[in-house]
Amino acid sequence: MSACTITIDGKALAAGKSETVLEVCNRYDIYIPSLCRGMGDHRASCLLCLVEDTKSGKLLPACETQVSHGMSLNTNTHAVKDMRTQSLTMLLAEHAGDCTAPCALVCPAHLETDKMVRLVEDQKYEEAAQLLYSAIPLPRASNMFCPGPCEKSCRRAEEEDGIPVSIRPVKDFLAANYPPVLKNNTADNANKKKALIIGGGPAGIAAVWYAACNGYAVTLADSQGYAGMLKAGIDEKPVIAAEIDNLVKAADASLITRDIATDDPLTQDFDILINTGLISAQMAVARAFYHGREEAAKVIAHAKGVTPHLRQKSSPSRLGKCSVPEIETLLQNRLKRNAHKTESVAGGKLCLDCTCWKSETCLLKKAAEDHKIKTATIPRLNHKRDLELVICGALEYEPAKCMRCGLCINTAQKLSEPYPLSFENRGIDTRLLFDYNLPAPVKTAHRIAQVCPIGALRCKDYGEKIDE
Ligand code: SF4
Ligand code: SF4
Ligand code: SF4
Ligand code: FES
Repeated sequence: MSACTITIDGKALAAGKSETVLEVCNRYDIYIPSLCRGMGDHRASCLLCLVEDTKSGKLLPACETQVSHGMSLNTNTHAVKDMRTQSLTMLLAEHAGDCTAPCALVCPAHLETDKMVRLVEDQKYEEAAQLLYSAIPLPRASNMFCPGPCEKSCRRAEEEDGIPVSIRPVKDFLAANYPPVLKNNTADNANKKKALIIGGGPAGIAAVWYAACNGYAVTLADSQGYAGMLKAGIDEKPVIAAEIDNLVKAADASLITRDIATDDPLTQDFDILINTGLISAQMAVARAFYHGREEAAKVIAHAKGVTPHLRQKSSPSRLGKCSVPEIETLLQNRLKRNAHKTESVAGGKLCLDCTCWKSETCLLKKAAEDHKIKTATIPRLNHKRDLELVICGALEYEPAKCMRCGLCINTAQKLSEPYPLSFENRGIDTRLLFDYNLPAPVKTAHRIAQVCPIGALRCKDYGEKIDE
C-alpha cells in the first residue's frame, strides 16, 4: 500500500493510495455515519457519509472517494451536517416502521411495556415481572394513580372497537403473582457497600429498588416513612401498603424515621447518598419512579466511575396512525413470526410487537438520533405502505423498511447462492422485487441478513444453526 498524506479536520494523516476516505476515517476513529457500504462494490445510495473538500467546497461521499496526496477534507462543517440531515430526512420519509412501540414511547416511567407484554405472551412471567419492577417498583399503586397513556396509545386501540392490549391488567397480574426478587443477592448487608436514600416518596422507593438491585445495602430516611404522596392511596387501599412492604423486604432495606439533611454527620456512615428529596413532590407517580431511578443510576455510576446507563426513549421512525386493514396486516405479520402465540393473559387482545426487532443496533436509528432528528419534522412521502412481512426460508424481509441499498443482493452474489431479492429500474425509480419462484438461501442466510444495516432483513434461526 503506497502511502500519501491527507488532511482531515486540520490533522495530517497517513493514508494508503488505494484507500477510500471512509476507510481512512474508520482507521483513525473519525466518526462518519454510513449505511450503504458493505462487502466490496456497492451503490452509494444513503449519502450520509458526505465530507467537504476544503479547497472546492464540494461535498463528496467518503465511501466512494479515493484518497489522493494533499487532499484536505472536513467532516463536520455546517454544510456537511445539513446535507446529512437532509439525506436522513429523505430516508426516514420513505421508511415505515416503529423504532419503539407507541405504548412504550408514552410511558412516563419508561417501562418497556411492549417487551413486558411479549414476555408474558411467551409465558416468561418471572422475567416480565422483574422488568416491570425495574421501572415501576409498585405496579398496583402505579395502576391506581396513572391514567394509562400506554393503553390510550396502543395501536390495537385504533381498531374499530377501540380496545387496546390490556397492559394495565398484565401489570396487576404480574404484581399479584410474581413478587419482586433481588437477583444474585448472595452477600449479606454487612458485606455490601451502603447507600443512604433521602426521601420516602415514589422516587425514593424507586431509588431503593435500583440501589438494592445494584448490590447496595440500602437505608431510607424520611420522617413520614415510606410512601410520600402515596399515603392517601395507602389509607384507602391496604394493597398498596402490602406492595410497599413486599418491596422493602425484598430489598432488605432499613428505615430511619427522621429527615436527614445532606450535610448531616450521619451521611458519613454511607458510601453513597441518593437525594430524591429534590424531586418534585407534585410529580405524577410514574414519572417520579423514573426520576428516582435516574438519580440513583447517576450516583451509582459516578461512584463506579462509569457512564450512567438509562434507557432513553426515542423513535425517529414511527408508523403513526394505521388504517384498520394495515393493523390486520400487522396482526398477520405477528402471527407469521410467532405462530405459537395465540392469546394474551387477562383476556386481552394480542400485542402486535410494534418495536422494531433491530431497535438497539439499527444504524439508521443511531444516525437519526445523532443528528437529533425528531419524527415530527419528517415529511411523510405520500405513497402506499407495504407493511406485509415476507418470509422466505429463514429470512424475514420487511419491504416498508428497506432502503434499497442492495448490500444483501451484492453479498448473495459474492456468496454464490440464489437470492430472491433483485433490483428493478435505476436511480430514484429503483425498486426491489421479491421473486417467490426462487429458492430461499440456506447456507448463507445468516451472512446475507447480517449485512443489512437496518431492520429490513432478518434471519431467524428456527432452532437450527444454518450457516455452518
Ligand atoms: S429499521 Fe431502524 S429506523 Fe427503521 S423502524 Fe427499525 S430501528 Fe427504526
Ligand atoms: S400492540 Fe403491543 S406493542 Fe403495539 S402499542 Fe399495543 S401493547 Fe404496545
Ligand atoms: S434488505 Fe437489502 S436492500 Fe434492503 S436495506 Fe437491507 S440490505 Fe439494503
Ligand atoms: S453513500 Fe457512502 S455510506 Fe452510503
